[in-house]
Amino acid sequence: MKISQSTIEEVKSRIDITDVIGDFVTLKRSGQHFKGKSPFTDEKTPSFIVFPKNQNFKDFSSGKQGDAITFIMEYDGLSYLDAILYLAKKYGVEIEEEEQSPEAIQKQNERESLLIILNYAKDYYKDLLWKSDEGKTIGLSYFKERGFRDELIQKFELGYSLDRWNALENDAASKGYNPDLLEKAGLIIKRDDGQYDRFRGRVIFPIHSVTGKAIAFGARILKKASKQPKYLNSPETEIYHKSDVLYGLFQASRSIRQHDNCYLVEGYTDVISLHQNGVENVVSSSGTSLTENQIKLIHRHTDNITVLFDGDAAGIRASLRGIDMILEQGMNVKAVAFPDGEDPDSYAQKLGEPNFREFLKDNAEDFIHFKTKLLMDGGENDPIKKAETITQIISSLSIIPDQVKRAVYIKETSNLLKLEEQILYSELNKIILNKRKEKQKKEYRAQPEIIAERIEEEQNKHLEDPVVLQEREAIRILIKNGFCQMENKHNLIEHYLDELDPIEFSNPVYNEILKIFKEQLRKGNVVDSGFFINHQDPEIRNEVINLISERHEISENWERYRIYVPKEKDLLSNSVYSNILRYKFYKIKKLIALNLAELKKEQESEIQDLDKQMELQKINVELKKAEAAFSKPLGITVS
Ligand code: UTP
Ligand code: MN
Repeated sequence: MKISQSTIEEVKSRIDITDVIGDFVTLKRSGQHFKGKSPFTDEKTPSFIVFPKNQNFKDFSSGKQGDAITFIMEYDGLSYLDAILYLAKKYGVEIEEEEQSPEAIQKQNERESLLIILNYAKDYYKDLLWKSDEGKTIGLSYFKERGFRDELIQKFELGYSLDRWNALENDAASKGYNPDLLEKAGLIIKRDDGQYDRFRGRVIFPIHSVTGKAIAFGARILKKASKQPKYLNSPETEIYHKSDVLYGLFQASRSIRQHDNCYLVEGYTDVISLHQNGVENVVSSSGTSLTENQIKLIHRHTDNITVLFDGDAAGIRASLRGIDMILEQGMNVKAVAFPDGEDPDSYAQKLGEPNFREFLKDNAEDFIHFKTKLLMDGGENDPIKKAETITQIISSLSIIPDQVKRAVYIKETSNLLKLEEQILYSELNKIILNKRKEKQKKEYRAQPEIIAERIEEEQNKHLEDPVVLQEREAIRILIKNGFCQMENKHNLIEHYLDELDPIEFSNPVYNEILKIFKEQLRKGNVVDSGFFINHQDPEIRNEVINLISERHEISENWERYRIYVPKEKDLLSNSVYSNILRYKFYKIKKLIALNLAELKKEQESEIQDLDKQMELQKINVELKKAEAAFSKPLGITVS
C-alpha cells in the first residue's frame, strides 16, 4: 500500500505529541514540558522529556529523540508508513491510498512484509466471520452464545477460518501474496506432500502489537469430540516473540493508566469476558507462564498488578513464582482467587456485571495475605507449616528492591503471623546476606583481588537496622504531627527532644532532620513537611517526600466491614509511646552487642587488662537490666 502525500501532511498537522506519547507513557507536567519514565530503558527516575512547544521528545537514558512519528516507529518497531497509518487511525484521518503491486511489496523488508500479510489475514478472517455463511452460522453464533457483544467482537477483531485445507492460501494467491511469506508468518504449513492452512474451522483471536497491528493469532476449535488441540497458536516468527507480548494490551493500555492497575488473567476468553463486564484494564500472558518482559510491558503503564488466579490450591501454588517476579520489578502485587472450578470468564458470566466488579474489588488481597492463607491452608496450629510459610513469605520480601516498602510489609507480616518484627528482620537479613555472598562469590571468581577488600564493608551495608527503622518512624511521626500537643502540655517535638536527649540518631539524614527540628524550636518555630520539602538539601527533601507519601491502606480495608480504624492522630500518644520505647529497646540491644564484642576482643587479647574486662562485664549487666525493663511493656520475651 502507498499513502498519498496529502494524507501524510494531514496526519502531521493533527498530531499532538503529548497525546500520542501519552497513550504509552505516563507523563507528568513539569513547567513547560512533560516528564515520564523512559519507555526504552528500565529506569527508575524519569528522564524522558516531551516538549510540546516544538513537538519533540528526548529520552536522556537511551539517547533517542525525535517527533511523534519517530516515537511510534521506535516504540513499536514500525516502518514510517505504518506509523503514519497508526496515527491516521488515531486522529480519524481518511487515508488516500494507492494499491501497490505485489512486486513492490516483495521489495520491502521482511518484517514489513510479514506485518502486511498478517494484517491481510486478520481482515480475511474477520470478513469470513461477519459475511460468510459458515462464519456466521458457526463462528459468530458461537461468540454470541458466549455472550460476546458485537462491539467487543469488533474491538478485538475476532474472526473465523473456514473448515477447508487451503482457503487462506488460495485467497492470498488470488491477491498476489507470496506463499513463502504466508509460511514465514506461520499461516500455512508446508510438508513434503503439500501445504495447508494452519487454522481451519476455528474462531480466530488476533494478537495485537502495542499499536494495534495483528502480529499473531490464537484459534479455538469448535467441533466437540475432536482429537485436535482446543487452541492453536501462531508459531514464533520474526515479529512474534510470545514471551514479549501480552494479549489485550493494545485494548487495555489507556484503562490501565486510568485505573493505575492492571488485571492479569490466563487466556483470551478471560480478557474479553472482563471487557464485557466493564473491566478494561486487563491483559493475559495467553498460554505461557509470565515472563520478565511481559511484566515490564505492564510496568510502562502502572506500578500495580492484580493477578487473577483460577484453579485449585496446588495449581496456584505452582504459579506463585509469577508474584515474585512482579515484586522483583519493584511493582505492587495483589491477588484474587476464584472459587473452585471457576475461571474469570465463567465467574463473570455467572455473577453479571456489577456483582463481578464488586467481587474483584472485595477479593483483591495483598500478596502477603494471599500467600499466607494459601500456604497455611487452615493449619494455623501446625508449627511446621507456620515455619515453612514464614520462610516463603520472607523469601518474597527479600526480593522487593525498595527498603521502605519492605519495612511496611514486614510490619504487616508481623501483625498477620503474630511475630515480633525483629525476628522477621533477622530472617530477612539472613536471606539478603546469603544472596549477597552468592553474588560476591561469583564476582570474586571473576576478579578476586579487587573484590576481596570490599566484601566486609558491603556485607554490613544496607542491612535492615531496627534502630534506624525506629529513627525513621520517629521522624515520620514528627513531620506529620509535630505541632500536636501532648498530655504534658508540650508539643510533640519538645516531647521527643526531651525523651531522646542526648542521643543522636545513627542515620545521618534523620539526625540532620532532628537537628533542624531542634534549631527551629529554639527560634520558636514548629516546622512541618512543607518546610522540609523546600529544604535546600536534596537528601532531606527526598527522604521527607518518601516519608509523607507512604500509603496507609489498612483503614480502607477495614471500613468495608464497618470496623473503623482510628486515624493515626487519635492514636498518636500510643504511636509515640511505642516508637520511643522500641527505639530505646533496639538501641540497647545494639549497645549490648557492641559491648560484648569489645569484651570478647579484650578476652582474646595478648595483654590481659582485667580491670577493663570487669568494667565491660558490669556495663553488660546494666544494659541487660535496661533491656529487660524495656522489653516488658513491649511484650517481648528476652532470652
Ligand atoms: P479454557 O479451556 O477455559 O478455554 O481455557 P475456553 O475457550 O474458555 O473453553 P471453555 O468454553 O471454557 O471450555 C482458558 C484460556 O486458556 C487458554 C486460552 O487463552 C483460553 O482462553 N488456553 C486454553 C490455551 O491457550 N490453550 C488451550 O489448549 C486451552
Ligand atoms: Mn473457559
